[in-house]
Amino acid sequence: MRFPPAKLCLLVSSLAFFNFGVFVMFAPKQWKAARFFRLSYRKIDDYVIPNITVVGYRNELVPTYDMDCQEDAHLFGNITVNMSAAEETYWTISNIVPPVRNLTSNETCKYLGQHAMINGTTSKETAIFEPIHCRFKHSVAIIIPFRDREEHLRILLGHLIPILQRQLIRYSVFVVSQIGKETFNKGRLMNTGFEFAVRTGQRSGIPFSCFIFQDVDLLPEYDTLRYRCSEGRNVVDHLSTSINKFDYKPLCCGMTVGGVVAFGERQYRKVNGFPNSYWGWGGEDDDINKRIHFRRLSIVRPKEPLGRYTMIKHDRDKLNPWNSQVDRNVRLALRRIRSDGLNNLNTKIVDVENYPLFTNLLVDVGTP
Ligand code: UDP
Ligand code: BGC
Ligand code: MN
Repeated sequence: MRFPPAKLCLLVSSLAFFNFGVFVMFAPKQWKAARFFRLSYRKIDDYVIPNITVVGYRNELVPTYDMDCQEDAHLFGNITVNMSAAEETYWTISNIVPPVRNLTSNETCKYLGQHAMINGTTSKETAIFEPIHCRFKHSVAIIIPFRDREEHLRILLGHLIPILQRQLIRYSVFVVSQIGKETFNKGRLMNTGFEFAVRTGQRSGIPFSCFIFQDVDLLPEYDTLRYRCSEGRNVVDHLSTSINKFDYKPLCCGMTVGGVVAFGERQYRKVNGFPNSYWGWGGEDDDINKRIHFRRLSIVRPKEPLGRYTMIKHDRDKLNPWNSQVDRNVRLALRRIRSDGLNNLNTKIVDVENYPLFTNLLVDVGTP
């Protein structure tokens, strides 16, 4: 990943470390490299972010809660999508790595590009955020298929993270980056991110109850759209039902469960995940849509206007061309449900980078 342009560096370094009360405690031995930061957030734009959030694995240091999270308490409803403010927010909230000493502005810039560090060594642990002052109900892994969209990622995280925190859920963000120059394979990335997130949740002592597959360029317009899975054993949630690009016409233009979609582990395994065999743009969402119906899962969608999203404008990526086989593949989708998906996934995670706000998996997806 490339890190900050000079202008942002200046901005960040001027904000650096002054707005946050940060302190670190060391986790017990079984969580050797675990991080436990306590952050107090300041007011960002007009949104008051709940006072305190914990990053890190659950361990004895996490206090026991005496009340359930009041999930509605901090929500606003319709929120303005402001992309430059979101990008600024990203830099501000990223700045949670505790400095060893006060840094000069140049050093701060370099620092932001580093992996999360503890005492000069790279953190081996994944940042999981949870509310500290109440008992959360939902533990959610956000999985973002990714390549070469750094600007979109900063805007998305700057916009989404304050929402997740206002919703008082436990969450962790997994960016799943395709390495190399081969044609994009979104299905393989999402399956790889899912398996990694499952393992991470288990290791943390609280398995994720929900896995949300999120396009990097889709920004929710309502913070009352819940980033979590609905209750029910046979349910899948499609969140991004209407997009500004399609004039907010619900499920416009061939869209089925594309964009942002949430599965419980059981449901995702039941459909054998996304197909691995789609290279290039289109179809993997229509394929999993067929799998969902075939496995008799029902799709829950938010009522208008909650599922409205703004899509960041972009051109079609060069390495993600429209796949001429899409129609045929989708027509034959159910023939491959048992043989093409989680159960024959053959990708390689070549590196795991722990950034303050997210984990970046570098993935070799193979060749067509
Ligand atoms: N994507 C990416 N890099 C690419 C191609 C796709 O990161 O080169 C990811 C990204 O999350 C993006 C999603 O795949 O939002 C869907 O691709 P795209 O936005 O091109 O499809 P659209 O929904 O705009 O038709
Ligand atoms: C593609 C889908 C896409 C939808 C909306 C369909 O033709 O196959 O992948 O989500 O169009 O753009
Ligand atoms: Mn897009």
